[in-house]
Amino acid sequence: MVPHYQSWSHSSHREWAHCNDCHVPQDNIISKYAFKAADGLYHSTVFTLRNEPQVILARNASKGVIMENCVRCHTQLNTEFVKTGMISYSQASKGEGKACWDCHRDVPHTTLRNLSSSPNAVAPLPESPVPTWLKEMIKK
Ligand code: HEC
Ligand code: HEC
Ligand code: HEC
Repeated sequence: MVPHYQSWSHSSHREWAHCNDCHVPQDNIISKYAFKAADGLYHSTVFTLRNEPQVILARNASKGVIMENCVRCHTQLNTEFVKTGMISYSQASKGEGKACWDCHRDVPHTTLRNLSSSPNAVAPLPESPVPTWLKEMIKK
């Protein structure tokens, strides 16, 4: 996820929207936790069972969540001034309109989701799995 982190950290959304503001449903606390659980299940399912239909469903669900969050923050512009926020992702995926990122391709991760999209970016690395006592031992 390093490219996703650093493209976001160079985007205009960094000051305003953290990962969860887009990727987790914000309507109520229960769906927030239910979604996190389902999303976790999706990842383990992909890696263990390779269960295709479930993968496609979960992907559409998570894009639906992202689009609801775009509209949540940009309500006035996209429901009053223009109507791009009046449809859901599932309608867009059936060709009944466009998802926000069909036009705003670079929000927030840019089109190039790899390390060359922002070279030399500082991204947080996972903590070292090596316990301190072992590090001390190696030093000696
Ligand atoms: C402003 C909203 C927004 C924010 C904030 C955001 N994302 Fe995203 N994210 C998106 C969109 C839009 C997509 C791509 C949807 C598409 O193109 O299909 C995406 C895609 C992804 C994907 C690929 C998912 C897939 O199924 O292919 C990952 C992983 C991801 N984001 C991680 C992150 C992380 C980590 C952060 C925080 C550092 C973050 N995102 C912050 C909107 C956001
Ligand atoms: C948590 C609230 C929040 C969410 C969620 C959010 N935005 Fe934004 N967005 C903002 C704010 C605030 C700004 C203004 C930033 C600025 O002026 O620097 C902004 C700026 C923008 C801009 C203009 C600047 C640019 O980067 O091009 C676009 C386009 C945009 N958002 C689209 C989206 C899309 C598409 C999504 C969903 C993938 C999304 N936003 C999700 C709050 C949000
Ligand atoms: C058919 C293409 C299209 C779709 C779909 C679309 N937009 Fe836009 N959007 C534009 C254009 C064109 C502009 C004006 C040019 C610009 O400022 O980048 C714009 C402007 C914006 C701005 C203001 C940008 C700024 O610089 O202040 C925001 C925020 C925004 N759109 C959010 C969204 C969100 C959220 C969605 C989904 C609900 C969405 N847009 C769907 C084409 C689209």
